[in-house]
Amino acid sequence: MSIKTVQSLLIIPILTLTTLSTASAHETPTAPDDWLVKESPYTEDDIDKTFIKKAGKLYKRKCKKCHGSKGNGKGSAAADLEVKPPKFNASGYMASRKDGQFFWVLINGSEGTDMEAYGPGTDVSLSEEQLWQLIAYMRASFTQ
Ligand code: HEC
Repeated sequence: MSIKTVQSLLIIPILTLTTLSTASAHETPTAPDDWLVKESPYTEDDIDKTFIKKAGKLYKRKCKKCHGSKGNGKGSAAADLEVKPPKFNASGYMASRKDGQFFWVLINGSEGTDMEAYGPGTDVSLSEEQLWQLIAYMRASFTQ
């Protein structure tokens, strides 16, 4: 066996181990500063019952299967995911994240996870307004 063959035989298990260990240690990436400062176009006055009902319907259609109706990350599809959805309803979770963080993940998705990009031009192609409506819905419904 040549040295090259021995090297490639060793490299495969090492790469596999590295991939496995990064997968289990996944942390949701943080948005760059210029995204974190982005603010919702909606103010408290806009967010009434009708608004929440409409955004709630969209959440049920597009997000619930992973994030769960209570935002606890236990939707029907969540068990099969390698990187699990976060528990939005955990104490302090929503307060620890800015709207700009959520908007960034919704526009870009989260690489290496099943969290897709949902903004304009993607497969699902929600408008920016719809993304902000979903964020407002999550804040109103999952904040502890
Ligand atoms: C196929 C499963 C799946 C669907 C459907 C899904 N998500 Fe996710 N979502 C995830 C996973 C997994 C993560 C964790 C990503 C990570 O940790 O990098 C995530 C992360 C997020 C985050 C980032 C939270 C943070 O702390 O930064 C937000 C916000 C989010 N999802 C909102 C939504 C919304 C709104 C929808 C519906 C439009 C949606 N997701 C649909 C699986 C999904």
